[in-house]
Amino acid sequence: MLKVICICGARPNFMKIAPLMDAFSRSSKIDALLVHTGQHYDERMSDLFFRELGIPEPDINLEVGSASHAVQTAEIMKRFEPVVLEHKPDWVIVVGDVNSTIACAMVASKLGVKVAHVEAGLRSFDRSMPEEVNRVLTDSISDLLLVSEPSGIENLKNEGVADDKVHFVGNVMIDTLLKNREKAKSSTVLDDLGVSPGKYAVITLHRPSNVDDVTNLSGIFDAFEEIAKDLSLVFPMHPRTRKNIEKLGLKGRVDALSALMTPEPLGYLDFLKLTSEAALVLTDSGGIQEETTILRVPCLTLRENTERPVTITEGTNRLVNPTRDSILTAYREQMARGKGDSSTPKYWDGNAAERICAVFESLA
Ligand code: UD1
Repeated sequence: MLKVICICGARPNFMKIAPLMDAFSRSSKIDALLVHTGQHYDERMSDLFFRELGIPEPDINLEVGSASHAVQTAEIMKRFEPVVLEHKPDWVIVVGDVNSTIACAMVASKLGVKVAHVEAGLRSFDRSMPEEVNRVLTDSISDLLLVSEPSGIENLKNEGVADDKVHFVGNVMIDTLLKNREKAKSSTVLDDLGVSPGKYAVITLHRPSNVDDVTNLSGIFDAFEEIAKDLSLVFPMHPRTRKNIEKLGLKGRVDALSALMTPEPLGYLDFLKLTSEAALVLTDSGGIQEETTILRVPCLTLRENTERPVTITEGTNRLVNPTRDSILTAYREQMARGKGDSSTPKYWDGNAAERICAVFESLA
């Protein structure tokens, strides 16, 4: 029996860990424990996802909460070390690129426990992004690199990672999307918000580069004010973004824009329904670039780079410089162009977690 500890901590981790825990629970060769670091802790950023996605209650919650990067990362390490010492797993499995990912990978590696990274090899080549630092460091100490798209294989090869550590398994986040797509159809979120299919845009923003600086955030709002003349805007607000809007003195502008709705962060099913029926998505999220690709909904990513290039070459994604004029130009082009052609990236087929499980079973 192979003993593994799976780590989750922040909202985008939950969609990735759900299909893995499910696949492991059906394997007679794998015994999986779930550790939640507590990086995200609000009901709408954490518990709601566990309930909706049927993720088992974490075996251990480290309850670290929010802090600066250094303090949060250090606190996760401090609290995770005794867990590894007590449970003596064969593997620690980390997903994505958040602080919980690198913190737990580092603890395991230093205790001589093997590390597997799900979503390995993605690179934005922008070290000013905290997630890029987390990705590079986690991959460099991982023993097994489980890759979601072809660029990941290429990047790891270029970094000199041995081929036998790398497995192209596909995208676990898409496992969750495909599994829940039907269920999401019965969400009442459109009626609740008073919007009609195809008549609104969905917005999500939370990257420090977009929401921590008043000039950048004001420019983005200038564009939203123009787009709001054509479409309703639904902007479920990340707590970090809501706090910054108040702090940077932009709340008055947000309140004055009647076509803009800013509900609290939505659950998985409501958000899936909302994006499925949107005319357009404007985002700086990583995962949403992938989800819109599968949903065939046009996505304007308000960033200068992406670590998920397959969403551009095959999917519906387009990078847009996050300034007023660039956003408006891209928006108008997109509305004129319509949905266009897109295809499904390889192995984004609902079976990524099964492939990962098979890799571990072969090691048992
Ligand atoms: C983190 C991840 C980011 C991911 C995002 C998804 C890192 C470095 N960043 O960013 O990659 O895309 O999660 O949401 O790990 N807060 C709450 N309630 C919560 C959690 C956070 O109010 O449940 C507030 C706190 O003020 C906190 C701030 O949000 O200081 C930022 O949270 P944090 O986890 O540090 O980073 P995110 O911006 O959420």
